[in-house]
Amino acid sequence: MKSILDFAKKKKNEQKITMLTCYDFTMARLLEKSKVDALLVGDSLAQVIYGHPNTLNATTTMIAMHTEAVVKGAPGKLVVADMPFLSFRKGLKPAMDAVHELMRAGAHAIKIEGVRGHEKVIAHIVESGVPVMGHLGLTPQSIHQLGGPKIQGRTQDVANQLIQDAKTLEDLGCFSVVLECIPAKLAETVTADLHVPTIGIGAGVKTSGQILVTHDMLGLNLSFQPKFLKLYDQLENSLITAVDKYVADVGNQKFPTTEHSYE
Ligand code: KIV
Repeated sequence: MKSILDFAKKKKNEQKITMLTCYDFTMARLLEKSKVDALLVGDSLAQVIYGHPNTLNATTTMIAMHTEAVVKGAPGKLVVADMPFLSFRKGLKPAMDAVHELMRAGAHAIKIEGVRGHEKVIAHIVESGVPVMGHLGLTPQSIHQLGGPKIQGRTQDVANQLIQDAKTLEDLGCFSVVLECIPAKLAETVTADLHVPTIGIGAGVKTSGQILVTHDMLGLNLSFQPKFLKLYDQLENSLITAVDKYVADVGNQKFPTTEHSYE
């Protein structure tokens, strides 16, 4: 998949869209060989790559640098870059500077959390020719306001607001909307209401597509296993076993052998 038009085509043909996060060249090179449709250079890199407790420490420059690496490694994939915390809430000029930096780094689209209060910014980005992916439900940049990583939309009021917000994002020209950690039934309603595809994470099976954090689904951090996550491997164990074998081989002088030594 190389363009946002393929997102619309997949929804029309009732084919599921698949996305994964990606932050670096090596993983991008591997994901390029896979059938996954599109990659997100998410602000989750603040946690996964930089070890911060949440996404608030991601910066535009950080995301731009990682976007550049991902685009090099996966030239055949659509790459979406996240607008980091507050980058779109400081006025139109700083927001557009951030969009410019991410697009110059090679992103094909940007993702923005929420909608209320930055409708004009979203409209301006879309009108400037930059595809925008919305993001509703559990929006991690509002973690402190939400009181933690909690399921959103369980009360009728919040569910109604979310349905309205999703419609607003579509009206503003977003090409798709991420729905994070909301009840499956609500995600189904939103997906049926919208013409543009929805991409779910912790939002049930009825969204137009799914996204997961690659490091989580590959089991590179087995201490993080939320209900919505399916482990497709347990690479944490394989990696530690491989490293410990290396350490033992070096200790026992089984590595390097003549096979790995120069005459
Ligand atoms: O930053 C991220 O990884 C995300 C996904 C979880 C949707 O926003």
